[in-house]
Order: sequence, then structure tokens, then C-alpha cells
Amino acid sequence: MQTKIEKITPESLREAKNLIDRGEVVAIPTETVYGLGGNAFDDNAVKKIFEVKGRPNDNPLIAHVHLDYDLLKIVDYDPPYAKKLREAFLPGPLTLVYPSKGKVSPFVSCGLDTLAVRVPAHEGAQAFLREVGIPIVAPSANLSRHVSPTSALHVYNDFAGKIPLILDGGECEGGIESTVCDCTGEVPTILRPGLVTREMIASVVGVCEVYTPDFKAGEKVKSPGVLYKHYAPKCRVKSFLRKEDALAYYASLDCSRAVLCENLETEFFRKAGCERVYDLGETPAQMATNLYGLLRKAEEECDELVVLEPREKEGVMQGVLNRLRKACASEDIKR
Ligand code: TXA
Ligand code: MG
Repeated sequence: MQTKIEKITPESLREAKNLIDRGEVVAIPTETVYGLGGNAFDDNAVKKIFEVKGRPNDNPLIAHVHLDYDLLKIVDYDPPYAKKLREAFLPGPLTLVYPSKGKVSPFVSCGLDTLAVRVPAHEGAQAFLREVGIPIVAPSANLSRHVSPTSALHVYNDFAGKIPLILDGGECEGGIESTVCDCTGEVPTILRPGLVTREMIASVVGVCEVYTPDFKAGEKVKSPGVLYKHYAPKCRVKSFLRKEDALAYYASLDCSRAVLCENLETEFFRKAGCERVYDLGETPAQMATNLYGLLRKAEEECDELVVLEPREKEGVMQGVLNRLRKACASEDIKR
């Protein structure tokens, strides 16, 4: 199969809709990362997404809808605090999990009785979702466990020959996947951190919890995606909290290598003679935007990436560090 990359135009949107109507999957831009989209009502399209990504079949998908889509067509209950969150943050990088109405394909939520719904802010994504008019399930458009894609070329590198069309909406500004927030309980609970932070959610509804799976208690996991090693580049990655340790390790390596650090520390490594120093950025938002592109650059240019963890740990950095630490993890957390 030939994989076309097309800018978003009325023609390419129509072509994308025709493909979706025929049960194909199409890559689409969003403001966070690119997604691999398919018709949420079509069992075969949903299965195809899992197949083409190599995604474990216990990791549910997010349904994407346009801003005016009637949510109650697909969700069973819409708690008042979820309405407040939608008004404050949507369209935008926030996915809300509701009790499902059971209307979309049962393969979407992998047996859970909930459904994750997201309204992306990216103009191209909104135009595509309006064109198709139905909920589109879309995981990040990377091979399972590889780094998420923030450009059409990243998608092409993972899926050339496997999908018919990539809609090219430019580089993703957000850079890390949406915040996933469970709205099935008394209070909102973050399942995956992202650009909409706990503080931002709490400022709108007064309270926000953060879910941490308790493996020892044998608790049923709320968001299976958190269990897997994710976002990993093909090169080795090792991370450090102290720059002196990162430098000593870098110097000890006998292979092609690079250092990844926040802007503030680049000078230290350059002065010490490191050949490749990747600048993650200055602000948390910049670091989110740059992270995945640099992880992909690292795998192209070197055998090992040495990471100095950024200092700031709060707010948006919770999401950035969550992804960075998973990229550095050596195996699944699952046991
Ligand atoms: O920014 C994003 O969210 C991107 C773009 C393409 O929209 N999508 C994305 O999808 O990151 P994916 O499939 O890579 O991650 C979906 C996450 C996983 O951690 C999954 O476990 C969780 O959402 N999730 C999906 N449905 C869920 C549900 N019903 N309950 C709990 N977690 C759910
Ligand atoms: Mg993903």
C-alpha cells in the first residue's frame, strides 16, 4: 500500500472521509501528537488500529469528537463537574472518561464500561472531525511502545506502506499526549498527566485527585496504558539527577552518544566537550513540545542517550517527566 502525505484541504478531507467510511485508518494531526484514526462504531476499523500499531488488546482507545458533537450519544452520564471542565478547557488537550453508553464498538474500551472522549483543539483535527461527523478513535500514531509522533514525517517513518493517508497539519505544538481525567467518581481523578494540570483542574472544580495504581493490593487497574513501557526510542537511554554523574557516564561511553538536558545546563555539557547536546528548552511548555522530536533524533544519531532530568517537577513538568521516565524505563511495570 502506498502511504500518501497530504496537507489539509477540502479535497484531502473528503478523501479522508471516504477512507474512514470504508473502514480504513487515517493519521490525523492534533495539538498534542498525531493520532491513528478510525470509525469508533466499526469493529473492524477498531481492530485494524490495534493490529497496525501492535497495541496490546487491554489498552483502551480515546474517541475524538468535534466541539458540537452531542456527547450523550455515546456516554451514559455527564457529571456536573465534567461540564465545568469542558467549558474551561475544551477544545484542548484534556480527555475525559465517562460511563459508556455502549454505543461504540466494544473493542474501543477493551471491556471497560467507560469511554474516554477528547475534543482536540487543532484546527485540522476539528475540520476532519466535522467532515466525518462521527466519533473517531485515535491512539497516538506510533508503533506500540515507540516514541509518539509530533510530525507527519514521524508517522510516515512508523507506518509507511501500512496506512493509506496521513493528513499533514504541521508540527504539534503541545508535544505530549492529552491529560486523561476520570469523571466516573465523586471527584475528577487524573489517570495520565499532561498539559492540563492537576492545579488547573482543581482551580475550576475545587478538587482533583491523581491516580496511582496500587499493584500490591491487586487492584483492578483503571487505565491499563500506564502499565506499559512507552515512548521509548530505539537507542539505549539512561537518566541522571546530577549533571556531574551524567557527564561522567557520557565520558565513559564507547559508542555514539548524546546528552539531553534543559537549556540552562547545555553550556555545562558543551564546555565539558560533549559533541552532541540536545536542548530540551527553557520553559515546561517548550520542554513538552520538544521532547518526542529529540527522542526520535537521538535514535537516529546515536546508540545511547544520556538524560539529565530537568529540575522543575511540578505542573506541566509532571507530564513531561512521566514521559521521560517511561522512555528511560527498561521494562514494563506490569508483573
Ligand atoms: O493526546 C492524545 O490523547 C493522543 C491524541 C492522538 O489525541 N492520543 C493518545 O492516545 O495519546 P493513546 O491511545 O496513545 O493513549 C490513550 C490513553 C491510554 O493511557 C489509555 O489507557 C487511556 O488513554 N484510556 C483510554 N480509554 C480509557 C478508559 N475508558 N478508561 C481509562 N483510561 C483510558
Ligand atoms: Mg500512545
